[in-house]
Amino acid sequence: MKKYLVIGNPIEHSLSPKLHNYWIKKNKLDAIYEKKKIEVNEIENVISQVKKDMIKGVNVTVPYKKVVIPYVDELSFEAKEAQSINTIYKEKNKIIGHNTDINGFELAIRAKGYNLKDKKALILGAGGVVSSIIVALKKMKISKIILSNRTKKKAEEIKKLFPYIEIIDWGEMTDFNIIINATSVGLNNKEEIKLNYEEIETNKLFYDVIYNPKETKFLSKAKKFGHQTENGKMMFIYQAHQSFTLWHQIMPKIDEETIELLD
Ligand code: ATR
Repeated sequence: MKKYLVIGNPIEHSLSPKLHNYWIKKNKLDAIYEKKKIEVNEIENVISQVKKDMIKGVNVTVPYKKVVIPYVDELSFEAKEAQSINTIYKEKNKIIGHNTDINGFELAIRAKGYNLKDKKALILGAGGVVSSIIVALKKMKISKIILSNRTKKKAEEIKKLFPYIEIIDWGEMTDFNIIINATSVGLNNKEEIKLNYEEIETNKLFYDVIYNPKETKFLSKAKKFGHQTENGKMMFIYQAHQSFTLWHQIMPKIDEETIELLD
């Protein structure tokens, strides 16, 4: 039986096993996908198990998407661009670090029919997924990316990788077409991001990377003020879809059942 794994810390919340095992079953594969909470010093061991074919593929989640880079032999074009790995596999005896978050975000936006060409994006947060979102936005030919994070220093670190982005202070507002919540605020449904919704022109796109809860206050308020909203569920499904396809050489189906599985 082939073994797959998602590593992170914390990991309890991860829905990757649910989705991957669902597709494994649907496609009658002899495989299993598990989650494993690890400490940094265990990364090396996980990678060595991939080398020995004891593990066939690994997904990486917070806080290790960047940390794992030195442990792999080679980065894919996407992983290199975002300096972030979420998918690991072995090819010709080499451990490859790849990134499917970039395409996951792009596909989620495109599937909804949004065209971001020549538009402006405001990203809130500077966590693990932000660099992938920046690369995806750039691929979609967005004209301007503005980043705002509570801890400005982290935003500045990201700007070192992507000098074309602009940084504004946390709490400051600017004109945008799409605003992306990439902070963890909203995960517990208690806290919320303070925005002056009254001052934002209507019909913008509010995107939340969070998909559980389905509708954060960030999104429910935006809806009330006449904006379009989108949660992170399809991005999550598309990134998993690409990892699955890469590992198993099978394109699993994304249907209503798949989407409802994550509710
Ligand atoms: P990681 O940083 O390990 O990748 P993450 O969950 O992806 O983790 O990122 C957390 C993001 O949410 C950060 O941008 C964090 O801001 P700081 O860099 O200032 O810590 C942001 N965040 C978390 N709680 C927040 C809060 N109460 N207000 C504003 N931003 C918050």
